[in-house]
Order: sequence, then structure tokens, then C-alpha cells
Amino acid sequence: MPVTDETDLRQRVAAQRQWYHTLDLAPGVVTPGWFDLRELPARLPIPSDLSGQRCLDIGTFDGFWAYELERRGASEVVAIDLLDRHAWDWPVNSPPAVVQAFAERKGEGVGFDIASEALGSSVKRREMSVYDLDPADVGRFDFVYFGSLLLHLQNPVKALEAVRSVCRGQMLSVDAVDVGLTLLHPRRPLAQLDGLGHPWWWKPNVAAHIRMVRSGGFEMVGSPTRFLMPAGPGQTRERITVAKLRSRFARNAIFRSWKGDPHCAVLARPV
Ligand SMILES: C[S@@+](CC[C@H](N)C(=O)[O-])C[C@H]1O[C@@H](n2cnc3c(N)ncnc32)[C@H](O)[C@@H]1O
Repeated sequence: MPVTDETDLRQRVAAQRQWYHTLDLAPGVVTPGWFDLRELPARLPIPSDLSGQRCLDIGTFDGFWAYELERRGASEVVAIDLLDRHAWDWPVNSPPAVVQAFAERKGEGVGFDIASEALGSSVKRREMSVYDLDPADVGRFDFVYFGSLLLHLQNPVKALEAVRSVCRGQMLSVDAVDVGLTLLHPRRPLAQLDGLGHPWWWKPNVAAHIRMVRSGGFEMVGSPTRFLMPAGPGQTRERITVAKLRSRFARNAIFRSWKGDPHCAVLARPV
């Protein structure tokens, strides 16, 4: 049953220092997320009716996608994540302040718990790395949502292979892409390797995102969907200065915070 004490819910939402997802928890109670994905489910190729299906959400954070799958009628939703920041696969030289900020936003998974209670959800969260997905442990799933995590993984293809081992239906891989590389090389799979000073490894172009999915043992279903992932109320707009406009990295950060983070969604099924 959803939480009915709205005052208590408001206080708990406010007490949470940061939210990753913008979630509608009750009439007038909205979490101030770093991202506001609320318009996306209607634009992405997710089956509108998941009745009777087992679904998996990977790297669930505050649970936006897991709750969306549940809303679409899934009979069971499992959501995995790693609360332990030391278990993340981030580059060792990621700035401690960025790791700390991300960890604080996640807390002890309190955001997910507050949302779960408020929504009266039955989503089961498990502390598990995507690399460790094993059908003998978690079973197989009819629909898998795998969002905004490939870029943070040292070995995205290995992760996709693990996802394939538990996917008996379709997987939607949604991840950040490099716009410049996509425009310059629409067909050639290329990725920008970072791994130094930023908490991510790879920014593929759209062709490389598709290639990663295919290398992991999937085939495409339909065409990729490109979109900008909108910033939420928890994110302050980057100030635009002449100095920043001279740096490619700073220009990208400005674009992301004002217009959204360029992403691509690839619907696929195991070969
Ligand atoms: C950028 S957030 C994306 C949140 C959400 N999936 C979405 O699409 O909105 C990445 C999430 O993946 C989790 N994560 C990091 N490494 C992971 C791993 N190896 N296995 C599973 N989840 C991981 C993080 O804790 C975080 O919740």
C-alpha cells in the first residue's frame, strides 16, 4: 500500500540530501532529481504492457525505471545496484569529490526505499554487480532495462554478455553517446576512451554503442532512438563563461546541463 501520510513523506524526501531521479511519489510530492526522465518512457521502445513478464532493471539508483516497468504490469521486477562505491568499476583516478558526490546522492539506497514505500512497490532490490548476473541465481528475464551504466564500466561488452545470460526476451540498452564522433562517423564504430579524471571510461558514437550490444551477443530490434536526457531540478545550470567555451569538456558540460545529456536507446534480443 502506498504511504498515505503526506507530511511524513515530504519530510523524508526533503531530508534526503540528493536525488538522482525525479519521481512523482504522491500528488504534489516530487523528488528533486539530478535528471528528470519523466517524459522518456513514452518516447523509448518499452512494451506498453508487460503483464505477466519478469523484468530486470540494472543499476537502478532511486528506481525510476524499475517502478516504470512495474507500472506497466510486470509480474516481477528485480532491480540490481551496487551501493558500495568501492565496488564500482570507475577509473582509479576519478576525482574523490565526484565519487563522494555520487555516493552521497545514492546514500544507503534510501531514495529507492522511500520511493518503494511511497509507491507501494513490490520491486525487489538486490546488491549485485551487472558482471555477476547469473541465471542460476537470478533466473531469466523477459525484459531488461540497462541504463546509463556502460560508460562507467571498464568492460562494457563483458557486462552485456552477462546480461545476455539472463535475458530470454528483449533488452533496452540506453547509454550516453559522443555527439561529435556520431556526426563525424555515422557508420564507423568509434569510442572516446576517457578513464582519466572523469568517472567514466567510454563515450561511444551511436555505431559503437550498437556494436557493443552486438558484440555482447545481441541483435538489434528496430532502429536506435537518439535523445537528450533532461537535467532535473537537482542540477544547477552550468555558468557560461568565455573561458569555459574554449574547453571542449566544459562546452559539453554546459550543453548537458542546459539541453540534456546525449543518449541513445538500442532495443535488442539475444542472438
Ligand atoms: C548513472 S547511474 C544510472 C541510473 C539508472 N540506471 C538510470 O538509467 O537512470 C549508474 C548506476 O549504476 C550503478 N552501478 C555502478 N556500477 C555497477 C555495477 N557494476 N553493477 C550494477 N550497477 C552498478 C550505480 O550505483 C548507479 O546506481
